[in-house]
Amino acid sequence: MAVPGARFRGSLRAGPLTPGFRGPTIRRIMRVLSGIQPSGQLHVGNFFGAVRQFLKLQEEGHECFYFLANYHALTSIQDAARLAELTRHLATGYLALGIDPDRSVFFCQSDVPQVTELCWMLNCVCPVSLMEKAHSYKDKIARGLAASMGLFDYPVLQAADILIYDSNLVPVGQDQKQHVEMTRDLAIKFNRAYGAEVLVVPEPYILSAVAVVPGIDGQKMSKSYNNTIEIFLTPKQTKKRVAQIVTDSTPLEDAKDPEACNVFALLRLFADDAEIEELAGKYRAGGYGYGHAKGRLTELINEAFAPARERHEQLLKDPDYVRDVLRDGGRKAREVAEATMARVRDAAGIVTHR
Ligand code: ADP
Ligand code: TRP
Repeated sequence: MAVPGARFRGSLRAGPLTPGFRGPTIRRIMRVLSGIQPSGQLHVGNFFGAVRQFLKLQEEGHECFYFLANYHALTSIQDAARLAELTRHLATGYLALGIDPDRSVFFCQSDVPQVTELCWMLNCVCPVSLMEKAHSYKDKIARGLAASMGLFDYPVLQAADILIYDSNLVPVGQDQKQHVEMTRDLAIKFNRAYGAEVLVVPEPYILSAVAVVPGIDGQKMSKSYNNTIEIFLTPKQTKKRVAQIVTDSTPLEDAKDPEACNVFALLRLFADDAEIEELAGKYRAGGYGYGHAKGRLTELINEAFAPARERHEQLLKDPDYVRDVLRDGGRKAREVAEATMARVRDAAGIVTHR
């Protein structure tokens, strides 16, 4: 059986492309952009919903821009030491998983202040009614987050992130689709307001097979639901977390429906096709318990992430390297952002006297 992650053993730069991965290959070179908020630890949902696609697009030679969305994280974290620590940790995690600063522009959102400037200019063409439709805003309020202006404006800042780099493709999980659609709306509104093709209208890049990765409780895996399986755990911690996956109480000897099982949904992501079929057969035949399935899932997760975990440990000991990478990436990102902003200011009649 092919071992998940085996393709990046020996060459961490290639990234872990697990066997079930079947992304479409995009032949024309695209400007790709995506970000993740440093609002918690990287988890399996982030990997399959986002990071794996980041790595694939990097491998294909696109012009990739990947960043740490620390301004966005301010909408949920207002503890300075914690945000700074999570930002460093996320940077290390991205690099350990295979984001390669020689091939992708890897940076921190706050190193590109132009993005908040564009956010303001987009605010001025953005109808309040468009933001009022945002699912993610409504969900977050429902879960008790304070209804701040920052949270309400979150999608406009995200649109600025995307539009400032003239991005064509935005790899994200299904939950972010609406934000990319809003970005398209805002680019079109801006271009219409100023009668010119100032901003590039982007497309989302979402793989349906992994659109929503379930958490240990069967809901969408998310930092905010406390149901994640984090990537950078020890094998023992992974085992403990997998043991907590909720299953029904079908006795070991009875037949089970693989399609109705959270453990199987995760196994599907890590195992190759032959093993998935074999496991589905065992579920249906009976005599195969959820404990067995959890044991296999633990093994697969530990195998898949072993090289990245090792690299993560090394990188944590080298914060200077990580800082230099971000400094360099920030410089490259600012250059592109400033060129877009010059065009945007010019189109809108904003004069500067620098
Ligand atoms: P979280 O919901 O844990 O806060 P983020 O909002 O930081 O995760 O998401 C970062 C990226 O990972 C986004 O592109 C998002 O769509 C993707 N993602 C997060 N959770 C999942 C999931 N359970 N399934 C698929 N993609 C996900
Ligand atoms: N909102 C995204 C998330 O929660 C993070 C993000 C911020 C982002 N800016 C972005 C994603 C720009 C893609 C493009 O996952």
